[in-house]
Amino acid sequence: ISLKPYNTFGIDAKAKHFVSISNISDLKAVLSLESYPNKLILGGGSNMLLTKDFDGLVIHIDLKGIEIISEEDNTVIVKANAGENWHDFVLWCIANNFGGIENLSLIPGNVGTAPIQNIGAYGIELKDVFESCEALSIDTKQFQSFSKSDCNFGYRNSIFKQDAKGKFIITSVCFKLSKGKHKLSINYGAITSHLEVMEVTNPTIQDISKAVISIRESKLPNPKKIGNSGSFFKNPVIPKTHFNSLKENFEDIPSYPVSEDTVKVPAGWLIEKAGFKGKRFGNYGVHRNQALVLVNYGGAKGEDILNLSKLIQKTVNRLFGISIEAEVNIL
Ligand code: EPU
Repeated sequence: ISLKPYNTFGIDAKAKHFVSISNISDLKAVLSLESYPNKLILGGGSNMLLTKDFDGLVIHIDLKGIEIISEEDNTVIVKANAGENWHDFVLWCIANNFGGIENLSLIPGNVGTAPIQNIGAYGIELKDVFESCEALSIDTKQFQSFSKSDCNFGYRNSIFKQDAKGKFIITSVCFKLSKGKHKLSINYGAITSHLEVMEVTNPTIQDISKAVISIRESKLPNPKKIGNSGSFFKNPVIPKTHFNSLKENFEDIPSYPVSEDTVKVPAGWLIEKAGFKGKRFGNYGVHRNQALVLVNYGGAKGEDILNLSKLIQKTVNRLFGISIEAEVNIL
């Protein structure tokens, strides 16, 4: 079957076998199928680039359900199953007046894959609201619970990209959210200015969600219309000494502090300076409003996009001496 509807890049790669799983016992059963040694676990398909057909069994995680686990005066623990669409979950929280993930509105993908890369945007990361997750060991078929510290979260990173990579299927995630009194994160410049435009002085979580949606819609392509995987690269962290020497040639190079002797540089800026922003190569290219996003205009091959990403990496390295790393999983 074609995996085109199952990856936000819209790549028409084929899977030899495919199964969509909506309950745990089916998941355990399918993992035990020895006749399919080659298995690929698929969530929302929003963080991967398929570069060839898959000669095995694709297991699409479609576990649904959201429930309130416990409530205290100012906080609530909400559990969402892995197959819930991330943005729909955000909207559900906002409708219930549960705060904490409004800044993460409109991020493509599902709840179950959000912890893997510790999704983040506009001043908030998943780890800020993460309580725990349940994951099924592919090997033992036993459940294991991961606390926040177990997950070893970092910038677009977690244990599920390190030691636990490929070993577990996250089946549900528990979030600790605020209710009633919310601690809003509105320091991000674009949010502040959007709230001003919206003439909002005392923002609610709904206002923040609306602001974030409008910022994202203005910069990022809608995967339903133009195939993409959000930021293709991570923002690199470089030594301050290196940054200072770049600053001599590139006065306007932006940066964010990370530690005493390192800074983060927006990869989008580097790619734009390298001349790639808005460049189109037939049916694929670099998005015109955000150079960090590679796009499939329709019918592109994963391999072409991979080659473009390599060309960008090489050029950025030649110009700035910085290696930028793909954030997207290449399959
Ligand atoms: N910039 C450019 N040209 C571009 C893009 C960016 O010069 O084409 C520079 C500008 O100086 C801008 C700065 O980069 O001020 C930052 O840009 P932006 O606010 O768009 O954020 P980003 O660093 O490019 C990161 C995340 C996004 C997230 C935004 C907002 C990564 C890899 N990406 O992008 O996450 O939405 O911040 O918080 O960290 C994603 O992971 O898929 C994603 C979209």
